[in-house]
Amino acid sequence: NRVTSINLSSMSLSGSLPSNLNSLTQLTTLSLQSNSLSGPFPSLANLSSLQEIYLDTNNFTSIPSGCFQGLSSLKVLSMSQNIYLDPWFFPTELIQASSLVTLAAGNANLYGSLPDIFDSFPNLQNLRLSYNNFSGFLPKSFSGSGIQNLWLNNQQFGLSGTIEVLSNMTQLNQVWLHKNLFTGPIPDISKCETLFDLQLRDNQLTGIVPATLMSSTALQNVSLDNNKLQGPLPVFGSNVKKATFDGTNSFCQTKPGPCDPQVNTLLEVAGALGYPILLTESWEGNNACDGWSFIVCDTQGKVITVNFENKHFTGIISPAFANLTSLKNLVLKNNNLTGSIPANLLTLTQLQLLDVSNNNLSGEIPQFPYTVKLITTGNVLIGTTPSSGGGGGPPSGSGSNGTTPNGNPAPASGGSSVSPGMIAG
Ligand SMILES: *[C@@H]1O[C@H](CO)[C@@H](O)[C@H](O)[C@H]1NC(C)=O
Ligand SMILES: *[C@@H]1O[C@H](CO)[C@@H](O)[C@H](O)[C@H]1NC(C)=O
Ligand SMILES: *[C@@H]1O[C@H](CO)[C@@H](O)[C@H](O)[C@H]1NC(C)=O
Ligand SMILES: *[C@@H]1O[C@H](CO)[C@@H](O)[C@H](O)[C@H]1NC(C)=O
Ligand SMILES: *[C@@H]1O[C@H](CO)[C@@H](O)[C@H](O)[C@H]1NC(C)=O
Ligand SMILES: *[C@@H]1O[C@H](CO)[C@@H](O)[C@H](O)[C@H]1NC(C)=O
Ligand SMILES: *[C@@H]1O[C@H](CO)[C@@H](O)[C@H](O)[C@H]1NC(C)=O
Repeated sequence: NRVTSINLSSMSLSGSLPSNLNSLTQLTTLSLQSNSLSGPFPSLANLSSLQEIYLDTNNFTSIPSGCFQGLSSLKVLSMSQNIYLDPWFFPTELIQASSLVTLAAGNANLYGSLPDIFDSFPNLQNLRLSYNNFSGFLPKSFSGSGIQNLWLNNQQFGLSGTIEVLSNMTQLNQVWLHKNLFTGPIPDISKCETLFDLQLRDNQLTGIVPATLMSSTALQNVSLDNNKLQGPLPVFGSNVKKATFDGTNSFCQTKPGPCDPQVNTLLEVAGALGYPILLTESWEGNNACDGWSFIVCDTQGKVITVNFENKHFTGIISPAFANLTSLKNLVLKNNNLTGSIPANLLTLTQLQLLDVSNNNLSGEIPQFPYTVKLITTGNVLIGTTPSSGGGGGPPSGSGSNGTTPNGNPAPASGGSSVSPGMIAG
């Protein structure tokens, strides 16, 4: 003789719910959606038999703290369209609901960040949190989750950071991330074999539309408009019924087809830096010599200078710089670049200045000819790759550089702009 289910949906009910609702300890289903219930949300704490909660479309005004504690059997929490709720944070006590399949709380005045607790929900399939005020990054624990239906679109402030984690959410069917502040490139979604609906419009995504997205055979509708995407105009297969990619994007041409080789090379350079937004705003069109920031060309339309001084760039120095065969000056100083100086830069016969000072580079320094002014100061780890063999003699000829004659790294401080190679010379 215990109540196990309450179903009063769409009954034009108003007024508030009793605060002791959770004395119905055998309750498994609570359906009160589509009424005008107001006042505080009922505390449901410790209703360990409760499996399904439907409280959508009401006029509740607040969520008591700890309301969702101890809901160890919960499968569905659906409470979207509660627009009068006081702003509240994502309820982290839900981690006790380890059988959760559906969490829907769209348009419910949630704010703050999405907590990194999604590895607590191995069965979660539907996460619908559109039209709230979330900010911050996508949680790392999305990676490997079984989420199929991910709706995080139209956040008032906006979620930010990259959407890289999507590449490891292999069960995704429908992804709505539009109207946020996401940055960085579209990830490789080739492992998301059932993804049919991908809405990424109205963000600040950069980089080239990946070939793996265009070749996906599951995709049916995709929106990429109003981002900062670069490279060739995307071309999708016939399985895609609806694709939009206009607006603020910076594709190299208005019709499909490859970009100019110099544009390709510079996009590859930008890719090695994670496609920073700064390298999309002015890098528009198919001519790198037409007003692109940080680029100087000669009269033949060949790039002779790339200057990224002081841009807070992270990432690596792209070997693609070697394709800019007329390059004379490459200035990368005062950034946070890691990795090593690509050896193929030695093929740049016109190179006069390579300034990589004040970064975080490591590895061996290629042996540039004395005609190259090389500045590597302020890279604590540079030259730390152990040199092979103890042959010992000072480098001979004009080609040596980078380490001091005794094999130690070049001094990291002092600010001298004279390279050891020049001293040796
Ligand atoms: C609930 O909200 C609706 C509109 O969102 C309003 O028309 C209705 O009067 C409200 N009901 C109560 C009881 O406040
Ligand atoms: C739920 O159970 C826990 C542990 O038994 C207890 O500490 C807590 O007070 C209970 N909460 C409510 C609202 O009954
Ligand atoms: C939305 O969230 C942001 C960031 O947390 C906050 O500054 C802002 O006040 C919130 N807006 C509203 C209307 O609550
Ligand atoms: C994408 O397609 C699916 C199925 O055709 C449809 O249900 C969904 O609403 C579409 N999404 C958008 C944003 O148009
Ligand atoms: C750079 O040059 C190499 C060799 O000519 C070529 O294979 C490669 O596609 C070029 N890369 C870019 C980004 O242009
Ligand atoms: C490098 O990164 C660190 C930490 O992220 C930051 O404090 C520093 O300002 C950055 N330096 C430059 C030159 O961008
Ligand atoms: C420099 O890079 C190393 C890894 O290569 C990293 O551990 C270290 O934190 C970086 N230092 C700065 C100041 O960014």
